Amino acid sequence: MNLTNRHLLLGVTGGIAAYKAAELARLLVKAGAEVQVVMTQAATRFVAPLTFEALTGNSVCTDLFDSAHEAAMGHIELARWADLVVVAPATADFMARLAAGRADDLLTTLCVATKAPVAVAPAMNQQMWANAATQESIKTLEGFHMLIWGPAAGEQACGDVGPGRLFEAAQLFQLVCEHFATGLFAGVRALITAGPTHEALDPVRFIGNRSSGRMGFAMAQALVEEGAEVTLVAGPVSMKTPRGVTRIDIESAMQMHSEVMQRVTTCDLFVATAAVADYRPQQSAAEKIKKSGEKLTIELIRNPDILANVASLENSPYTVGFAAETERLEEYAQRKRIDKRIDIIAANLVGAAEGGFESTQNALTVFWEGGQQQLPLTDKLRLARQFITLMSEHFYARTGT
Ligand code: PMT
Repeated sequence: MNLTNRHLLLGVTGGIAAYKAAELARLLVKAGAEVQVVMTQAATRFVAPLTFEALTGNSVCTDLFDSAHEAAMGHIELARWADLVVVAPATADFMARLAAGRADDLLTTLCVATKAPVAVAPAMNQQMWANAATQESIKTLEGFHMLIWGPAAGEQACGDVGPGRLFEAAQLFQLVCEHFATGLFAGVRALITAGPTHEALDPVRFIGNRSSGRMGFAMAQALVEEGAEVTLVAGPVSMKTPRGVTRIDIESAMQMHSEVMQRVTTCDLFVATAAVADYRPQQSAAEKIKKSGEKLTIELIRNPDILANVASLENSPYTVGFAAETERLEEYAQRKRIDKRIDIIAANLVGAAEGGFESTQNALTVFWEGGQQQLPLTDKLRLARQFITLMSEHFYARTGT
């Protein structure tokens, strides 16, 4: 599972099982997650913060009133930053404080202040686990919609046998992965192209187009929200990368082609939102072209058609095209769908009031073999969400999963 760009806040409280949290931090980092560790004072008696700092590359926060940490990322910022809070191990004392809604140290404060889901992995002596007060805390935390991961039963550090062991790090890691693997496109590996391409004429000039990248970035965000692992090959645009998306920046159609073809064999879904230049200058001048005669002729040659190349692969992923047209929307879009042998195409009118290029809004007419549906004018993220919901039915009908 790829956890790239996922923000994990790992809370560690004071129990002998705190050493297992170090292995969990290692697994999360290895899977690409960004991990911030918050320890209670008692936890630092079992494992040194330095261990987590070395594993995560981030300094460990232990104190609500630490002005250095507050200046770097304050506790409210940290609470907002998290996609998921995992407290492992969670002691009986910590759970009781959390159940009581207390915010008397940094970790409980973060749990109270965050909107992210909170998962608690209990670890304690079996008698403490069986205690009525602990069981009441667990019920209360469940009532707060917190996730309770564990405990396992077995031999304990104190020699007792019974429930109260912290889940193993691999098991907790698996639960984190499953947590993120929900949604319409859970576990689907999606590759998306977005934005324009720039075809160099000389070191300072290029042939380009008006694509802003908004539609492609909205598709990336909508897919990642639905649990897909998204890689976005983006032309030159000034868009912020949506959280959780892996971005590769390119300039030209040839570079986009190369980046896509290197990755496409390991993806399940290919979405071509980019406005790729059909032609590029046969030669890009090494030095700036100087004014000379009244006319300048530039020889252009065809760029490879990335979408058509992907669709013609033996084990091609599910292919989604876009068609930007200024007229005869249905005719031209359907022709592209059939000629490029793609599964589905979303057509938009451009150059008019309808949206399309540059605009924050768009409208799409979606065509597939034997059907079509209109998605009326709205902002591009909402439209992308509507489109991927529609597309999911066709995607699963073809891939059969
Ligand atoms: O970026 P925005 O400002 O938000 O604008 C969004 C958009 C209008 C660019 C987008 O919604 C859109 O319509 N993208 C497709 C642009 C287009 O005209 O494509 P096309 O008709 O040239 O190509 C059809 C399909 O083939 C597209 O999916 C395109 O990505 C793909 N293609 C085209 C040529 C090429 N060499 N390689 C390709 O992969």
